[in-house]
Amino acid sequence: MAAPKILAIGKTVQDVFLTSDEFDPHQEGKVMYTHLPLGLKMEVEHVTFGTGGNAGNVAVTLARQGVHASYMWTLGLDPASETILRELDHEGVDTSHVVQTNKYQAGYSTILIATNGERTILNHRGVSTGPRGTDLDFKAIAEADWVYPTSLANGGLDLLRKVIDYAEKNDTKVMLNPAGPELAEPEKLKTLLESVDILCVNKEEMQKLVHGETLEELVHHALNLVPVVIVSDGPNGVCASDGKTMVKAGMYEDVKVVDRTGAGDAFASGFLSQWVQGKSLKDSIVFASANSTSVVRYIGAKAGILHKNVKLHDMPLHEQPLK
Ligand SMILES: Nc1ncnc2c1ncn2[C@@H]1O[C@H](COP(=O)(O)OP(=O)(O)OP(=O)(O)O)[C@@H](O)[C@H]1O
Ligand SMILES: [Mg+2]
Repeated sequence: MAAPKILAIGKTVQDVFLTSDEFDPHQEGKVMYTHLPLGLKMEVEHVTFGTGGNAGNVAVTLARQGVHASYMWTLGLDPASETILRELDHEGVDTSHVVQTNKYQAGYSTILIATNGERTILNHRGVSTGPRGTDLDFKAIAEADWVYPTSLANGGLDLLRKVIDYAEKNDTKVMLNPAGPELAEPEKLKTLLESVDILCVNKEEMQKLVHGETLEELVHHALNLVPVVIVSDGPNGVCASDGKTMVKAGMYEDVKVVDRTGAGDAFASGFLSQWVQGKSLKDSIVFASANSTSVVRYIGAKAGILHKNVKLHDMPLHEQPLK
């Protein structure tokens, strides 16, 4: 079987991570990084450069897992855009659908990592295509087996609608793990779900779309909208269903969280990377969990992404036929 083709669409950024013992959310007497005083000059111990943006992170998990991964977006000639392209090329992501001209600019994020792995982000959003997806070659969607649109910047829901409509007309499947710009209007987002094949969101996000207190309730209700549903809840675990069985899983491993940037991307794309290769719901969830758990152990959204044939271990997990 030829490797499935997946097209990730959306904004990418260059990330600069600053780590310091001073970024301690709990310790009294330290400069609280949440209240940096005006005029402060503060030494930081470590700086790490990386690239991020949901769609780029997703493409790298897919590529490392042997899927034919393409990335489509608009980038500029700025150093951040060049770095992003170089890294994606190096990972084996097909970047032939990236439009690179001087009217665009990549995003740039400065990320302060707290000692507990949580983060504060100073974000420059860059300049990218707008609601109509000007300059993007929509034919690339028709050529793919799956499309994974996320973080469509100022294109927001209009562009998401256009991508999903185009996918539906061309029998391309859609995985949706919406980010901030798409979740800003949950009621409108809901109207798009009938053309979505897999929906993966965290608990709070799902509660904007359907009613429910527990992960199981949320999954049950969301199955009325989408055939495959996954709801994650950070270290508390995850619940998923494909309409046939329901998988409820706990934590893959209790690791020290160094930086949780990219956890959600690693989880959702980790799932898709296995699902499209014919793995079961359960095995896809185990890989998704392992991938995201690995990502939070390293600074940056991509450093911990698992490579092909990595050895996985069991995790607390319960599977039952759907009632
Ligand atoms: N503290 C943690 N320890 C271990 N694993 C974690 C932790 N936080 C997240 N993960 C892993 O990452 C997965 C996704 O995390 P989460 O449910 O927080 O998604 P998210 O809120 O969509 O993340 P993001 O903010 O990156 O979009 C979890 O299911 C889990 O496997
Ligand atoms: Mg998320």
